[in-house]
Amino acid sequence: MHDFRFVGNKLFCEGVSVGSLAKKFGTPLYVYSQHTLTDHFQKLDRALAPLDHLVCFAMKSNSNLSVLRVLANLGSGFDIVSAGELQRVIAAGGDPCKCVFAGVGKTVAEIEFALKAGVYSFNVESEPELQRINQVAAKLKKIAPIAVRINPNVAAKTHAKITTGTYENKFGIAFEEIEGVYARAAKLKNLRLRGVQMHIGSQITETTPFELAVKKVLPLVTRLKAKYALEFFSIGGGLGIVYDPMLASGDPAWWQTAAAKNILTPQKYADRLMPLLKPPGLKILLEPGRFISGNAGILVTRVEYVKRTGKKNFVIVDAAMNDLIRPAFYDAYHEIVPLTKKGGATLKSDVVGPICESSDSFCKDRPLPKVGEGDHLALLSAGAYGFVMASTYNARPLAAEVLVNGKKFAVCRERQPVKEIWAGEKVVAWLK
Ligand code: LLP
Repeated sequence: MHDFRFVGNKLFCEGVSVGSLAKKFGTPLYVYSQHTLTDHFQKLDRALAPLDHLVCFAMKSNSNLSVLRVLANLGSGFDIVSAGELQRVIAAGGDPCKCVFAGVGKTVAEIEFALKAGVYSFNVESEPELQRINQVAAKLKKIAPIAVRINPNVAAKTHAKITTGTYENKFGIAFEEIEGVYARAAKLKNLRLRGVQMHIGSQITETTPFELAVKKVLPLVTRLKAKYALEFFSIGGGLGIVYDPMLASGDPAWWQTAAAKNILTPQKYADRLMPLLKPPGLKILLEPGRFISGNAGILVTRVEYVKRTGKKNFVIVDAAMNDLIRPAFYDAYHEIVPLTKKGGATLKSDVVGPICESSDSFCKDRPLPKVGEGDHLALLSAGAYGFVMASTYNARPLAAEVLVNGKKFAVCRERQPVKEIWAGEKVVAWLK
C-alpha cells in the first residue's frame, strides 16, 4: 500500500498536505513518498530473505537522485540500461559494483565506462555484443563479468508494448540457442561467465507467468552453473502493481486485502518462486522497477478550464502527455482524485492536457467529482515511468519533483527554467 491518503477531506502524502505542496511549488508537480519507496523495497527484500539475493532497482522507472539515494541507503543495487544511468547511480552515491547493465545496444564507450566503474555484470542480449564486450575488455586489460539474457519465449499476459519474453521481441537470446552461446562465450578470454538472466515483461499481476518462466529455464540454468561455475541467476523485474481505484476504497489493510484477492504481493511471489530458486544454490537477482516506485509517486495538476461541449465535459489541466505519457502511449489507467474531496454527484469527464494532440488525454468519460478552475487533481501511481518518460514537447518545461518523508518535504528536482529547453541550440551561422 502507499502513503497517499485522505485525512479529513484533504489528500496527504505521509504527513504533508499535497495541496500545500502544490501551492508552494506550483504544478505540474511530481510528489514522491520516501516511506512508500522504503516499504516496497523492504517488503520484497524481506520476503526473499531466506535466499541469497540482491534487489537491483530498475532505475529506468524513476531515476531521480533522491529516489536512488533512498534505495542505495537500503542496500539496493541497480538495473541500468545506459552509461547515463550509471552516472546517475554514481552521482546519487550508489555502488557501481551492485549494478547490472542491460540493453540491446550498448556502445563501445558505454562498455568502457561500465567496465572501468566495475559493474557487477553485463546482461548480454546478442552474440555480437559478447564479441564487443570481449574486445573492449581486452583493450582495457580487464575481465568483463557477463550474463546472457535468456528469452524464455513465455507470454507474460501484459500490454503488448511491455512484453519482452517472447520471440516477437528484440530482447535476449532464444532459449534453444543459449547453451551454444555459453560454449562460445567460454572461449572468449576476457569474459567471465558470472550468471544468467531473464526478464519476461512488465506490469505482470499474477505469479504464474514468472513461475512458468522459471520452471522452463531452471534445468538449463542448473546445467550452465555446473559447467561454468556461475554465481547468479537474475529473474528480472516485471512485478505488477494496482492501478485501479485504491484511494476510493480507503482500505488501510491493503496488503491483507490484496493477499485475499488475486493480487500479486511480495509474499506470494516469494512463496511461489523460492522453492524453485533455492535448489540451484545461485545468488538470485531481481530487477523490479514499477513495484518499488509506481505507487510511491503522484502527479499533481491544476484545473485551468472546464469546457462543456454537446457530448463531453472536458477538464483541461496544466499537466499533459509530455509530463506523463502512459495513458497516451499504453492506454494506461491512472486513478484521478481531487486534492480536496468533494461530495455530490459525479460527472463523466475527459481530463485532458493543453498539448495539440488528441491523444493528450488522461482519461475518457470517467465519472469524476465536479471540479472547476483552480481546483487541483492528482494522478496516482505515477512514480514509475512518469517523470523519466517526460519530454519538453510543445516547449513545456519538465515538471518539478518533491520528496516527502514524514512531515518533511524538499524539492528533489527544480522545475526546468523555460530557457533551458533550448539551451543547447543555436541559430546557425549562415542564418545570421
Ligand atoms: N529488467 C529489465 C531487463 C527490463 O527491461 C525492465 C523493464 C525491468 C527490469 C523493470 O520492469 P518493471 O519491474 O518496472 O516492470 N514504460 C513502460 C514499462 C517499460 C518497462 C521496460 N523494461 C510502462 O510505463 O509501463
